[in-house]
This record gives sequence, C-alpha cells and structure tokens, in this order.
Amino acid sequence: MKQMLNIALPKGRLGEKVYAMFEKAGFPCPAIHEDNRKLIFENEELGLRFFWAKPSDVPIYVERGVADIGVAGKDILLEYRPDVYELLDLDLGKCRMAVAAPKSFHDDPRRTLRVATKFSRIAANYYAAQGREIDIIHLNGSIEIAPIIGLSDVIVDIVETGTTLKENDLEVIATVVPISARLIANKSGYKFKNETIEEIVRGIAAQINAKS
Ligand code: PRP
Repeated sequence: MKQMLNIALPKGRLGEKVYAMFEKAGFPCPAIHEDNRKLIFENEELGLRFFWAKPSDVPIYVERGVADIGVAGKDILLEYRPDVYELLDLDLGKCRMAVAAPKSFHDDPRRTLRVATKFSRIAANYYAAQGREIDIIHLNGSIEIAPIIGLSDVIVDIVETGTTLKENDLEVIATVVPISARLIANKSGYKFKNETIEEIVRGIAAQINAKS
C-alpha cells in the first residue's frame, strides 16, 4: 500500500485558496470539489489525504503527527508555539496583530494597562519587551467589546480591513506583528516523507514567486 501524506487545511476561504495551490502544484484531490460536508478526502492514487480542520487546531494535528503538513496563521504559531517546522510563508491570509483602543484613550505609563485579547502570549511578550506592566484579560472572541464597556483599556487583536475597529469606534495605536498563513510540517513526517513534502514546497513556492 502506498504511504499516505496527510494534509490539514484550515476550513474556510483561506483553506480553499490553499487547496487550489496544492492542486496547481500537482497534488489534487478531485473529490474535494463534491458538494458535501465531508471533512476528509483522499486521492488514493497519489497517496494524499486532505482534511479540513478548525484553523486554530491545525498545528495540533501537525505537532502530533496525524497530519504531516498543514497550513496555519502566524498568529496561531506565535501564540501556541507548536513544535513543528515552518516551511513557507504562503503570502495569503495577510493581516496584522495590533493594539487598538477607543479614540478617547490616553495612556498613562504609571498605571497598569488592562489588555483584553485572545492572544495572551503575544500580548504578554509585546509589553514585556517594552517593560510595561499589564493585566491580561483573556477573552475568546468579540474582543472589541472590552474597551467599550470598560473591561479593558486596550485590545490586542487581528486587524485585516479595519472595518470591525472602525464600526466600534476603535483605532489602531500600534502594530505588534504582521501575520500571514504558513505551511508547517511535523518534524518526523518531514524527515520520512521529505521527497514528497519538498516537491509540494517547490510547487507552491513557484506559485508565490510568480505572483510577486
Ligand atoms: C478577527 C478579529 C476581528 C476581525 C478583524 O475576527 O478578531 O474581529 O477579524 O477583521 P477586519 O479588520 O477586517 O474587520 P475573526 O473573524 O477572525 O474571528 P474571531 O471573532 O473568532 O476572532
């Protein structure tokens, strides 16, 4: 039996763009185009198995080796620091991690800053580098509400178009780090299936280079 290469892709628009890159690189799985809600698709002939995972879970599958490769946002990689290889910046899903606050916000450096975020480690590292004392309020979503209702002074969150901030009367006061989607690999999978993985990397890198 042919050895399978397991590929974890983030469910949603980004994942579909990424899948198109695999297809163009010569690693297709036609069944994926069928209109159904299945989450796992195989191309037995080529020995490929794709599955759609919740985006923030992709590094878990890859780190534990049930996926040999996968695609995850740099935000997730910085926050959870999975023990995986980062092979390629896919130049997709581009946005930035930023600090945002209400327009009326005036920082008082003598006071502990209350920071609401889903990305506690990223926020902690950012302010530690500045020697700033903060109180992190970890939330799981709708972070923008926090400074409006007085739960926090600022937020650290992902900004893509800026629309969410604008519609909630918040503004970016600093950029923490630019974010984009990355191709990641399980460390032993990368070793044992190196030839196939490198072929995928070359095929996808060629598409990125052709774009820029
Ligand atoms: C992110 C982020 C903002 C929004 C920013 O949320 O938390 O709410 O996108 O995008 P914009 O600048 O284009 O308005 P996401 O939709 O990823 O989901 P979440 O609520 O689970 O964080």
